[in-house]
Amino acid sequence: MTILSIRDLRGGYSEVDILNGIDLDLADGEILTVAGTNGAGKSTLAKAIVGLLPRSSGVISFMGKDIASLSAEARMALGIGYVPQVANVFANLTILENLQVVSSSNRQRIEELFATFPLLAERRRMRAGSLSGGERQQLAFARALVPKPRLMLLDEPTAALSPNKVAASFALIRQLPSLGVSVLIVEQRARQSLAISDRGCILDGGLVALDGAADVLLADQRAAELYLGNIGNGGV
Ligand SMILES: Nc1ncnc2c1ncn2[C@@H]1O[C@H](COP(=O)(O)OP(=O)(O)OP(=O)(O)O)[C@@H](O)[C@H]1O
Ligand SMILES: [Mg+2]
Repeated sequence: MTILSIRDLRGGYSEVDILNGIDLDLADGEILTVAGTNGAGKSTLAKAIVGLLPRSSGVISFMGKDIASLSAEARMALGIGYVPQVANVFANLTILENLQVVSSSNRQRIEELFATFPLLAERRRMRAGSLSGGERQQLAFARALVPKPRLMLLDEPTAALSPNKVAASFALIRQLPSLGVSVLIVEQRARQSLAISDRGCILDGGLVALDGAADVLLADQRAAELYLGNIGNGGV
């Protein structure tokens, strides 16, 4: 089944279009990486899917329903989760309180998530402001998972992490399909992200310049030269 299908998506923040006709498909249970240079429109695409872009047109079909005219709240209620590029947690609340304030949270769900994120469970009584960047990212993930989304959009999930935390973060993302969550990841570390993905696409100027199976993109000479950095540099 296709969980997300986008056709001719256009839009922007003012009268100028940033997205210039995006077509994209994501199958249920798959991980898709959206790569591209700074300013290519990756975060804008994520905002359009979630319902946070001021102006957009085109079809955004989620589980067979066109959601393009729905509010961000309605899209979330249908099962779209979002962790923005700057991870937002309530620094003055404890970890437990950060999870409790999500409207659909209940004790059992929070315990399930603590089982998935043992590090958060250990620190449940600590203030979120005392967490490191990577730990805060985990809390932002956990918060987004509380309502049991079917699709999770992650915007630069590893950007704020020190290099030694990146692999653990990708390992966590890789687990999401086994929890029933399909994933769309926006990433600058395109090689590493493609390595845990089923499919990938590369945005350029608000359009899909290249897309396909992740392993095919990783082996694609043109993708490597133009967008992914040189082979062997460890992935940018
Ligand atoms: N809130 C905003 N208001 C107006 N223009 C914006 C806004 N956010 C982004 N833009 C513009 O939209 C274009 C695409 O930005 P976007 O944030 O989608 O890029 P990106 O691919 O996510 O880049 P990065 O890799 O740096 O995060 C840029 O030219 C940017 O200046
Ligand atoms: Mg961005």
